[in-house]
Amino acid sequence: MAGLGFTGQLTLDDPVRFDRAAPPAAIVIFGATGDLTRRKLLPALFRLAQERRLPATFAVLGVSRTPLSDDLFRQKMRESVETFLENSPFDADLWASFAQGLFYLDGDIGDPGLYQRLSDKLAWIETHRRTGGNVLFYLSTQPSHYGPAAAGLGAAGLARGPRPESWQRLLIEKPFGHDLASAQSLNATVQRHFQEDQIYRIDHYLGKETVQNILAFRFGNGIFEPLWNRRYVNHIQITAAESIGVEGRGGYYQEAGALRDMIQNHLLQVMATIAMEPPAVYEPAAVRDERAKLLRSIRIMTSAEAKLDSVAGQYGPGRAGGAQLAGFRQEPGVDPQAMTDTYAALTLFVENWRWAGVPFYVRSGKRLPKRVTDIAIQFNRAPLSLYDGEAAQNYPNLLVLRIQPEEGISLRFFSKLPGAGMRIRPVTMDFNYGTSFGVRTPSAYETLLLDALSGDATLYTRQDMVEASWRVVEPVLRCWQETHHGFPNYAAGSWGPAASDEMLARRGHIWRLP
Ligand code: BG6
Repeated sequence: MAGLGFTGQLTLDDPVRFDRAAPPAAIVIFGATGDLTRRKLLPALFRLAQERRLPATFAVLGVSRTPLSDDLFRQKMRESVETFLENSPFDADLWASFAQGLFYLDGDIGDPGLYQRLSDKLAWIETHRRTGGNVLFYLSTQPSHYGPAAAGLGAAGLARGPRPESWQRLLIEKPFGHDLASAQSLNATVQRHFQEDQIYRIDHYLGKETVQNILAFRFGNGIFEPLWNRRYVNHIQITAAESIGVEGRGGYYQEAGALRDMIQNHLLQVMATIAMEPPAVYEPAAVRDERAKLLRSIRIMTSAEAKLDSVAGQYGPGRAGGAQLAGFRQEPGVDPQAMTDTYAALTLFVENWRWAGVPFYVRSGKRLPKRVTDIAIQFNRAPLSLYDGEAAQNYPNLLVLRIQPEEGISLRFFSKLPGAGMRIRPVTMDFNYGTSFGVRTPSAYETLLLDALSGDATLYTRQDMVEASWRVVEPVLRCWQETHHGFPNYAAGSWGPAASDEMLARRGHIWRLP
C-alpha cells in the first residue's frame, strides 16, 4: 500500500511509515477556533496522519479565547476535517485514534497566566503523549497578537525546552507586518525570545507543489536554463487571479488590500523562485540565500516610477456566471467609502546581469473572471521569420507554468499547417501533473507543517526576504496613498481596470488571457 494512503484499519500506533515522517512533537495552535485552523491546518494534519507521516506520539493543543472542553474541541475539529478534507475520504476509525491527541486550552494571549497554564499542560502532554518535549508553536491569530504571544512564551521559559535535545519552534502566519517598520519591530520582539533558526515564517505559496517544481524544472533540466535570461526572455507575467470576493474577511482585507495580501508575500516569492540564481546545493541556507539575493535585486521604484508602473483597482458590482455580484464596498464589514485595492498590478525590474531590462509584470485581484495562478515566460521572436510573418509576430514562443487550479506546464511553438504551402500555426506541448503522475498532490499546508516539524526551513521565508519585499512595495503603497483612484474602477467578474492594460501597452505588451 505504499504511497496510496490509509485504508481504514490502521491506527496511529501502527508501525507502517512512509519515507519521511514527523518526529514526536506537540503542536500548539494559537487561534485554534479560527478559519485557518478549521479549513487548512487540521485537515492537513489529519491528512499527514492518513499518510502515516505523523507519529502516534503527537499532540495538538488548540489555544483560543473561547472556553471549550477537550471533547468539544475534538468535535468541532471533526466537523471541520469532514468538511474541508480534500481528495480523500474521511476515515472514522483513524479519526478516533487521531482525536485522542487533540487538546484545548482557553485564555487571553495578553495574560501571563495563560503561559503558566500552557506550560503545565505541555508537561502533562509530554508525559502522556511522549512528545519528547518538542513543541511547534503555531501563531494563527490576529497579527496584532504575534508579538505578545512570542513575548509571553519567552517570559514563561517556553522558547527553551526542558532538555537540550528537545526543540521548540515558532511558526508565524502572514502577514508579517503591514510595512517595513512594523515587520522590523515584530522581528525584534520575536528575536528577543527565539533564535532565527527557531523561527518559521510561512508563505503557503512556497509549499505548493507546482511552485516547488519551478526549481526542479529550472535546475533539473539542461535545456531551459541557457534561455533563462535577458538575451532570450522578452518579459514575464505572473498572475494570481481569484474569482472569489472577500468571503467574510472584509474587516481584515479592508486594511490589507491586494498588494499587501498577495503581492508583497506570495507573488514576490514566486518571482524570486522564477528568477533566482541556482543555489550551490539544495540546502535551506543556500536556497534561501539565492531567493533573498533576488528580492534585494528588484529595483526600488522612485515615486515617479511608482505612478507609471503600478495600478490599483477595486471591484464594483458586476455579473459572473449569470449571477449578480456585489461591489467591494457593499461587502459585509466593509466601509462604503473604502479605498482598499482589491486588484494590484506592478511592473518590476530585476537589476542584475541575468535580467536587466526584462519587465516582470505581476498582478493579483479578487472577483476576476476565474481562479487561476500561472507564470508566463514570453521569449523573443525569431530574429527573422521565413514563413507567416504575422503569425510569428503575434504568437512568440511562450512557456506557461500553471500553478493552480490546473497544474502543469505548456510550451507554445510554431508548426507547419498540414497541406500545400508553408503556413505556420502556434501549437502547444502540454504536461499535466494529474495525468502524468496519477497521484494526489499534497496541500501546501501538509508540506509546510511536515517541513517545520522536521526542521527543514527551505520553504520558509527569512527576515531579510520579508524586509526586501516590503522595500519593493513601499514606494507603491506611498504613491497610492496620495492618488485619487476613482474606485470602483472594474466590474466584479472582469479582468481588472483598464489602466492595467495601459501599463503594459506602454512597453508594447498585453496581458495574456490565462
Ligand atoms: C491568502 C490571502 O494568503 O491567500 C487570501 O490572504 C487569498 O486573500 C489566498 O485568497 C489565496 O491562496 P490560494 O492558495 O487559494 O491561492
